[in-house]
Amino acid sequence: MRRTIAAFLALFLLFLTGGTNARWLDFGAKKAQTGLPVVLIPGDGGSQLESNLTGKPSVVHYVCSKQTADYFDLWLNLQLFTPLVIDCWADNMQLVFNTTTGLSENMPGVDIRVAGFGGTEAVEWLDKSKASQGRYFFDIVDAMVSWGYRRGKNVVGAPFDWRRSPNELNDYLIELKTLIETTYRWNENQKVVLVGHSMGNPLSLYFLNNYVDQAWKDKFISSFVSLAAPWAGSMQIVRLFASGYNMNYYRVILPPSKLRAMQRSFSSSAFLFPSPVAWKPTDILASTAVKNYTVENIKEFFHDIDYMVGWEQYKQAARLNGNLTAPGVAVHCVYGTGVPTPERFEWAPGYFPDYPPTEFVGDGDGTVNKKSATVCNNWIGNNDGKEVTVHEVFQADHMAILKHPNAIELVRKAIYQLL
Ligand SMILES: *[C@@H]1O[C@H](CO)[C@@H](O)[C@H](O)[C@H]1NC(C)=O
Ligand SMILES: *[C@@H]1O[C@H](CO)[C@@H](O)[C@H](O)[C@H]1NC(C)=O
Ligand SMILES: *[C@@H]1O[C@H](CO)[C@@H](O)[C@H](O)[C@H]1NC(C)=O
Ligand SMILES: *[C@@H]1O[C@H](CO)[C@@H](O)[C@H](O)[C@H]1NC(C)=O
Repeated sequence: MRRTIAAFLALFLLFLTGGTNARWLDFGAKKAQTGLPVVLIPGDGGSQLESNLTGKPSVVHYVCSKQTADYFDLWLNLQLFTPLVIDCWADNMQLVFNTTTGLSENMPGVDIRVAGFGGTEAVEWLDKSKASQGRYFFDIVDAMVSWGYRRGKNVVGAPFDWRRSPNELNDYLIELKTLIETTYRWNENQKVVLVGHSMGNPLSLYFLNNYVDQAWKDKFISSFVSLAAPWAGSMQIVRLFASGYNMNYYRVILPPSKLRAMQRSFSSSAFLFPSPVAWKPTDILASTAVKNYTVENIKEFFHDIDYMVGWEQYKQAARLNGNLTAPGVAVHCVYGTGVPTPERFEWAPGYFPDYPPTEFVGDGDGTVNKKSATVCNNWIGNNDGKEVTVHEVFQADHMAILKHPNAIELVRKAIYQLL
């Protein structure tokens, strides 16, 4: 008995003191318990934005501020969604497209920065008050913490200014490369798993195909888990450009007409325009009594909605991912289906473009059409020898997929290399 207690005490002390002497005791348990480090890449609307007004030449209402002393929460801040104040907000959020440079600028007198790069807080919650409407990567990170992960150490976030298309995110993409490298080094040179949501995925594809070479990918990336990726764009963007779209997936009640000028100004909107890679010339995107619009007459579409700046934005941003060639890293492509998703819009005479259209639905996750989400199927056997697995999650809505048990389980398998 005494011997048993002594042996137990010795064992206990060994664990307490840790060090190399204890290594032989844990039977490789450490390997089994620690998943690979993770970098989270959020989507459209998926990063907190802060703004400082440095002296606006004009405002849209007397209630709007021209100047502030410090940065305040611009996105997501539910307090700003009240009458009149929402107009100030939309005006501050807007970008101005410079047709000379082909790049977007903030509104004059508006300074905008992204909160929390390298942490998880700003991608777990979009609203700093942690209102349920702003719940984002929380469920995935919370699950990871329950598996032993530590926020800011082996799970980190890479928020960005999601109003912009990838060609306007050069500084961010360089920081992303550094973040992946440091996350690898801080975690004993373990390869990193990228977990993207929504637009974060075509943005990651752009990064992997343009910012790093194959040797870098082989060294730093274990796999890329894409959740709800609009690889080839989304039909919601067509409605957004024509009539405005109230982003109903945030469950925030916003009148579409108030948002149109702002949404049109985002170069990320043009980046997500339906691409001919997934939409055939015979697929009708939108129609009025006098015309059908397809991927072949997009210039006419922008002309007819009286927004030719959109055509300039389209030429800059819509085909940045070219023909959507595979990223050259292992991909686990996870997407929702079985949720009615706009497939085609029709405007009755007198309604185009200012009033909401009638929508005809097809398959998808409510936001991303199935034909766009499934582009990753083309990469099987076509990904520089790297694995591609494809996982359909039935009835997983575009936002709800982030808390769907099947999706979280797929993330777990990817980070423990079980897929
Ligand atoms: C915010 O803008 C004001 C007005 O231009 C300026 O005085 C102030 O220094 C800015 N605040 C920060 C934190 O940059
Ligand atoms: C567009 O950019 C050019 C070059 O930087 C600049 O000279 C011009 O003033 C900008 N145009 C507008 C409307 O801001
Ligand atoms: C639009 O396409 C539909 C289906 O092909 C066709 O029936 C219709 O006549 C077209 N409308 C116009 C205005 O060309
Ligand atoms: C994309 O594919 C089309 C049709 O196969 C081809 O004509 C075009 O050159 C390709 N574009 C790029 C950027 O590879």
